[in-house]
Amino acid sequence: MDEIYLNGKFVSRSSAQISIMDRGFLFGDGVYELIPVYNKKIFLLHKHLNRLKNSLSLIGMSDISGIEDIIKKFISRNSNDHFFIYLHVTRGEQSQRNHIYKEAMEPTILIMCEEYPSYNKDQIQKGFHACMHEDFRWLKSNIKSISLLGNVMLKNHASKHGYYETLLIRNNKLTEGSASNVFMVKDNIIHTPKLSNELLPGVTRDLLIDLLKDNNMIINESDISQDDLLSSDEVWCSSSTNAVVPITMVDENQIGSGKVGSTSLLIYDITRDFIKNY
Ligand code: PDD
Repeated sequence: MDEIYLNGKFVSRSSAQISIMDRGFLFGDGVYELIPVYNKKIFLLHKHLNRLKNSLSLIGMSDISGIEDIIKKFISRNSNDHFFIYLHVTRGEQSQRNHIYKEAMEPTILIMCEEYPSYNKDQIQKGFHACMHEDFRWLKSNIKSISLLGNVMLKNHASKHGYYETLLIRNNKLTEGSASNVFMVKDNIIHTPKLSNELLPGVTRDLLIDLLKDNNMIINESDISQDDLLSSDEVWCSSSTNAVVPITMVDENQIGSGKVGSTSLLIYDITRDFIKNY
């Protein structure tokens, strides 16, 4: 859809303008959310809005009043069934470039819709390859910041080498992917890094943990070393764009049998059904 929402107005993408003095443009001073819409229904909206509120609070900004109604109005003007809402909030415009921000600024609010490829069952069954890299990002990765240069560099490192994702290691611990959370399976127990300032509290991560528990699976949120990851039976990445993406190779290392494992396929199916019935 060509129409976007910018600061109270619905305008076309090509005519939308923001000031060069916007702190989002100059400093990457803002936060965002990416929210799926399936069959015109906004998926897990309140979880995304809670995370937005938390990200805003962590950078000293107030919650955006009325944002839920704005999103719903935006959706009602869109004729597509499936898409993603990109919601971007910056601290706003300031007359001079200054690291120090003024209190109580008027935020810049942008909402637009985006489309991302969603993998079909055949692609999921074939699996994907990933690489590993040192996590050189900042130590506040729990904030869904629009300052994504580190993530952008790490994702492009993967794509340039033909990988789906870069899995990030800091102090010999897996943190997350450059644009996803990571799960692994060892001896029928599922593990995912515990939440901390080093990773994003993924909405999909949360959903998968609940669905796995509902299906009587054991899930352990704890530290995962590089060796744990490489000697695991299964690995998958999760994000709002593709809930479960099985990883069968990490760099030159085969994961488990080198084929997509049964737990990955099970959680893929369970999540797909959950989305269908949402
Ligand atoms: N990114 N970790 C990082 C660094 C991410 O960028 C994302 C998602 C996730 C998964 O979060 P969620 O399940 O809430 O989507 C974890 C989105 C898709 C993006 O930036 O486009």
